[in-house]
Amino acid sequence: MAMTMHVKLERLLSMKGGKGDSSYAKNSQAQAEHARSVLYLLEAALDEMQLTATDSAFTVVDLGCSSGNNTLFVVDRIVKHMLKRYESAGAPVPEFQAFFSDLPSNDFNTLFQLMPSLVKNASLEQCLTAVDHIQRSYFAAAVPGSFYGRLFPAKSVDVFHSAFSLHWLSQVPEAVTERWSAAYNRGKIFIHGASEATANAYRRQFQQDLAGFLRWRSQEMKSGGCMFLVCLGRTSTVPSDQGGAGLLFGTHFEDAWNDLVVEGLVDAEKRDSFNVPVYAPNLEDFQEVVEANGCFVVNKLEVFKGGSPLVVSCPDDAAEIGRALANSCRTVCGVLVEAHIGEPLSHELFARLERRATLHAKELLDQLQLFHVVASLSLA
Ligand SMILES: C[S@@+](CC[C@H](N)C(=O)[O-])C[C@H]1O[C@@H](n2cnc3c(N)ncnc32)[C@H](O)[C@@H]1O
Repeated sequence: MAMTMHVKLERLLSMKGGKGDSSYAKNSQAQAEHARSVLYLLEAALDEMQLTATDSAFTVVDLGCSSGNNTLFVVDRIVKHMLKRYESAGAPVPEFQAFFSDLPSNDFNTLFQLMPSLVKNASLEQCLTAVDHIQRSYFAAAVPGSFYGRLFPAKSVDVFHSAFSLHWLSQVPEAVTERWSAAYNRGKIFIHGASEATANAYRRQFQQDLAGFLRWRSQEMKSGGCMFLVCLGRTSTVPSDQGGAGLLFGTHFEDAWNDLVVEGLVDAEKRDSFNVPVYAPNLEDFQEVVEANGCFVVNKLEVFKGGSPLVVSCPDDAAEIGRALANSCRTVCGVLVEAHIGEPLSHELFARLERRATLHAKELLDQLQLFHVVASLSLA
């Protein structure tokens, strides 16, 4: 049973593809800004790597790349940073290759349409001075599959990067959807404000997933390699207080689901069987797993204030804020919602969310702050 749910989510989950209004490509400016704000930490992690003379390509992997410019930007920065390091050290410059990895339902086509062409014979000088990712100085390929499983050959990857992806669980814990279980999430669709049993089931699932993630990566990473991870996080010690993630998925979104139930469009049990498979860990949740795994040394592990997911041009325009919140939620959860209640009801749900968020626009703009766990790890 667990296996079926596990496989289903892997087959199903994706950010909204394409380039339309609710696509991830058009609704990921907040992630782009948050990623830029921790670039200095990523570069510091890259600076710790030993430069080795090798015949094999220097390999960069972005896990949970999605479709859009964010992954292209970060891979470009990693490659250019390492090129510069090799050049300054006067060391032979290796060829670079990048693997863009995500679940099979990810819109890789849109990603590859956005990808600049390879300029292989450009001088090092041209590569380093090219404006961010208008040309590409690395070979590229897609790797479909879950990062909770094995993805790459042993000892083949120099840099693993993953941003805003590891908070996605491999599955909603079974107990949370079993009606007679103490962890059944009755009346809710997220763990923010849920019972201790429900929130702890999510915490256990997160830790089990992260343990698997680290186990596979420790086999795939070259010695001397580096791993830089950013995911949604929280500052609270209590798992049922999911902070900004809670406000995003557990308040107006939950109320909008309730609207559908009260209006008789969705029955309560159908709503109860939908749960957002996201968990924002705090530092202890994360650290416990890294320590138990034992394969990695922690170079940095901190929670950072990431800012708001709402990027709006006019902060006084309540309708724009309402639309931005509904789009943020739809971009990341829309595919799961549609699979659960179908497209017409999904449309109704997000319309209600937009209405509710518009009514609470000011409060959302003031209070919706995301936090991120940032981890820089290398092999022990
Ligand atoms: C919010 S997007 C982040 C995209 C990109 N890294 C960025 O910074 O904008 C999260 C991505 O994680 C992917 N993801 C979630 N669970 C995954 C898993 N188990 N294996 C691989 N990718 C996964 C989703 O499909 C999605 O594309």
